[in-house]
Amino acid sequence: MRTIAPFPATRLRRNRRSQALRGLVRETHLSVTDLIWPMFVMEGENAEHPVPSMPGVSRLTIDKVVAAARRAESLGIPAICLFPYVDPSLKTEACENAWDRGNLSNRATRAIREAGIEVAVMTDVALDPYNANGHDGIVKGGEIVNDETVEALAKMALAQAEAGADILGPSDMMDGRIGAIRAILEENGHANVSIMSYSAKYASAFYGPFRDAVGAAGALKGDKKTYQMDPGNADEALRLVERDLMEGADMVMVKPGMPYLDIARAVKDRFRVPTFAYQVSGEYAMLMAAAQNGWLAEEQVMMESLAGFKRAGLDGILTYFAPRAAEILNG
Ligand code: PBG
Repeated sequence: MRTIAPFPATRLRRNRRSQALRGLVRETHLSVTDLIWPMFVMEGENAEHPVPSMPGVSRLTIDKVVAAARRAESLGIPAICLFPYVDPSLKTEACENAWDRGNLSNRATRAIREAGIEVAVMTDVALDPYNANGHDGIVKGGEIVNDETVEALAKMALAQAEAGADILGPSDMMDGRIGAIRAILEENGHANVSIMSYSAKYASAFYGPFRDAVGAAGALKGDKKTYQMDPGNADEALRLVERDLMEGADMVMVKPGMPYLDIARAVKDRFRVPTFAYQVSGEYAMLMAAAQNGWLAEEQVMMESLAGFKRAGLDGILTYFAPRAAEILNG
């Protein structure tokens, strides 16, 4: 009887021999139902303005957003996420337009609802598109004031729920906002509206193209380091997620995506709750820029990058690649 295995003891290449075998032993799979498609809304009719730093992405008027939502539905993408390009004349220091029932974002949500499209609508809860200072919070005496901002965010969240949003996405990083939003929703008959908290959102330079897309780059004075996370921290992300879950978040998010997949994995392993990551505008821009230069193979890096999110244990990904990835996944 032979007791010592022949060299090489384990031929791991056997399972990689063919596409069939690779498929058979693949541990994680990307599916269309993992995708959330972020889009930019602007005023007007039947128009779209390309975002220069995001090739293939445009700001859309509400009618075009409705058409895109219909496309998401037919592709099987479960959710879209709306970000408004707010006219500079509506940006104020008090950010009142943020909780206006008839603001651009709320009109877009209503239009999608009225069209009867079966796609979940996620909205952004943060003041930056409405803020003359470009910050996610109200600025007083040079400081981003937490508690006043939380009150504003709660009003904003309620207006979005009333417009018909299914998932609210607080992306502001103020303390206590999840609890305040959950409370105002409960008090006003919106107990079924979900909250996906941007729990671990880092102060990142990868948001640059997004700030161009929503017209916040020009307005922003200073940086967001007093409320968004320090890129050097990991333990703090776990504290934030735990806190947001205690306050009533249904799902949590890590943002940006690719440079923070270690955080995604740590969150998923620790809490075992629906966990998402946002492949942000700068991640999209760098892949697209290299692809446009012929330096990277666009489709392959797109699908490989998205596979990485699944392998890190995530339940879903917000990505500007959503419609193109869905087309490939649908064959
Ligand atoms: C703002 C917000 C940002 C993003 C989503 N919501 C930018 C920021 O915090 O400055 C970034 C998304 C992206 O870069 O794609 N509340």
